[in-house]
Amino acid sequence: MTLPRATILGLGAYAPPQVLTNEDLARMVDTSDEWITKRTGIKRRHIAGPDQTTSDLALIAAQQALEAARVRAQDLDLVVVGTATPDMFFPATACLIQDRLGASRAGAFDLLAACSSFVYALICTSQLIAAGAIRTALVVGAETLSRLIDWDDRRTCVLIGDGAGAAVLGPSTGAFGMYGGLVGADGSAGDVLKVPAGGSRMPITVDAIERKLHRAYMDGQAVFKLAVRTIPGLIHKTVAQAGWTMDQVNLIVPHQANLRIIEALASQLDVPLERFVVNIQEYGNTSAASIPLALYEAVQSGRVHEGDRIVLAAFGGGFTYAACAWVWGS
Ligand SMILES: CC(C)(COP(=O)(O)OP(=O)(O)OC[C@H]1O[C@@H](n2cnc3c(N)ncnc32)[C@H](O)[C@@H]1OP(=O)(O)O)[C@@H](O)C(=O)NCCC(=O)NCCS
Repeated sequence: MTLPRATILGLGAYAPPQVLTNEDLARMVDTSDEWITKRTGIKRRHIAGPDQTTSDLALIAAQQALEAARVRAQDLDLVVVGTATPDMFFPATACLIQDRLGASRAGAFDLLAACSSFVYALICTSQLIAAGAIRTALVVGAETLSRLIDWDDRRTCVLIGDGAGAAVLGPSTGAFGMYGGLVGADGSAGDVLKVPAGGSRMPITVDAIERKLHRAYMDGQAVFKLAVRTIPGLIHKTVAQAGWTMDQVNLIVPHQANLRIIEALASQLDVPLERFVVNIQEYGNTSAASIPLALYEAVQSGRVHEGDRIVLAAFGGGFTYAACAWVWGS
């Protein structure tokens, strides 16, 4: 029996309508449009409304992806949501959208690898399809980081935004689909990006809240260095695993954390910046949603053609990293 190769059958994405500009932030904390633009490339970000949860964002992106793929929710075998900001600890956000979609046959679970969650989920799910264990799956990256951030901390609040992106995966009928996928982690660097309170180590108490330990902490420079040190090698390995050379890659969709990180990757890989998808100026860092949002926009704008070779590359808290290589088409 020949096993299938998993491919992306349809994509969806959603960003909430409320926009927060750099000028808005300059009225909230001691910052400026000039500082944020120069250091990060971000101009605007979208913020979930008070009644919008991660599953609300995820559901809209998922519905779009199913429509684009012409797949019925009842035909899904699996729903995976990559998120660090679930609606609740449990039930999983994947279970919430499985119910709202009516994907009654599907198993459902969340996957947490911080900003790398979507790419981790995409790789794991594709391998389940390639192994013949499942046939059709929905993978979502969705976040409401705005709920985790300290809006008085200018070092972090200017960086983030909310959003969701989704992909429907199924077996490829041709030579399309995933050709390489690598995941990795360096747990010894876990302290550079974390939310200290709220789990079993430090349950939420009045003291924890007063010390803002339920908010995201980040050592920005350490994360910057880890990303620039790790991701070029990861992309090289993934491209080699696919059996390609770097100059055969048409498009790289990197995690949108900082424009300077993306520029450093381009320079280290010796790949022109024009071959990278960059939409950080509009959304900021949407964590697990950033790569599916960027891929969706690249496809919608006609930048992706059937047969193109595409690499997705993510990094985030953990420290986690993941990359995968695709021949675009179904
Ligand atoms: C966070 C980040 C933008 C900071 O940029 P940087 O060039 O490293 O800046 P620094 O942290 O050295 O800070 C430089 C100065 O700007 C100040 N500053 C920090 N945030 C500021 C802001 N929003 N507005 C104005 N000034 C700010 C700092 O206090 C510091 O002031 P000082 O020199 O008087 O001490 C950058 O390190 C980064 O993007 N890191 C990666 C983050 C990331 O990818 N996170 C997500 C991972 S998934």
